[in-house]
Amino acid sequence: MKKNKLVSKRKGIVLAGGSGTRLYPNTLALSKQLIPIYDKPLIYYPLSILMLANIKDILLISTQKDITNFQYLLGDGKNFGLSISYAVQDRPEGIAQAFLIGENFINNNNSALILGDNIFYGSGLEKVLSAASDKPEEATIFGYPVENPHRFGVASVNNGKVTSIVEKPKITASNIAVTGLYFFDNNACSKAKELAPSKRGELEITDLNLSYLKDSRLNIHLFGRGFAWFDTGTPEALVDASVFIRTIEQRQGLKICCPEEIAWKKGWIDDDKLQSLANNFQNNSYGQYLEKLLKEKF
Ligand code: G1P
Repeated sequence: MKKNKLVSKRKGIVLAGGSGTRLYPNTLALSKQLIPIYDKPLIYYPLSILMLANIKDILLISTQKDITNFQYLLGDGKNFGLSISYAVQDRPEGIAQAFLIGENFINNNNSALILGDNIFYGSGLEKVLSAASDKPEEATIFGYPVENPHRFGVASVNNGKVTSIVEKPKITASNIAVTGLYFFDNNACSKAKELAPSKRGELEITDLNLSYLKDSRLNIHLFGRGFAWFDTGTPEALVDASVFIRTIEQRQGLKICCPEEIAWKKGWIDDDKLQSLANNFQNNSYGQYLEKLLKEKF
């Protein structure tokens, strides 16, 4: 099989903080981003999206309480051909705070940030990600039409250009939610430092995006029909996402956001490594799937 060894210099951040109060008691002892979505922990889905964008150097930010569980699950990232480092967000003081916490890690490079509870799925996603990644001096956000936009950052778009973004507006100007995936140039950290906390005491990602909009350097890609985006904030949304993933996976016999598979297909881990990972889960369908990849080499 032809392996794609492309690696982006862009740094990746997965923000997996917060206390998940809307999911209590599920999240009293377990981080929200470790809850299973069908056959794998939630965090595998956003991690896979960064991998599909050819990003190998990743910082995972979580709370002091939860960080050791992520370290237990993902280690240094080598099993997925990655380098994963960790940082703590002491208090939930906003998504844009990731760029203060991650400043040394980003080290003046371009970056991509994904929220640890966001699931993206759709044909052609890799091309969309590489188009965003190929704009080194701009920022790209991703919009998705939703039934209940007031729960999100809402973008107004005219002729493919963002004209405004409002965080959780009472009255919504459009049905386009800004999803939790953001590509930034190397100014994200300095711009984040200029932000003031919002009324709810957070450094808002919407304000960071607005700063790029002000500079006319904010692109939006709109995901349309046939694309799935879930943010898994409620028990209902968790079940919906699990059922969706199970339905597609069982129909096609292909896994969605399986980091071992992505790493292997990109040539970041070899056949022996994939075999040893499969051996870890010998008696279940996840391990059998990894074995099947090696046998069929599709
Ligand atoms: C955050 C952002 C919001 C975005 C959403 C996507 O909201 O503030 O702009 O639309 O993530 O998941 P939160 O889920 O933290 O309320």
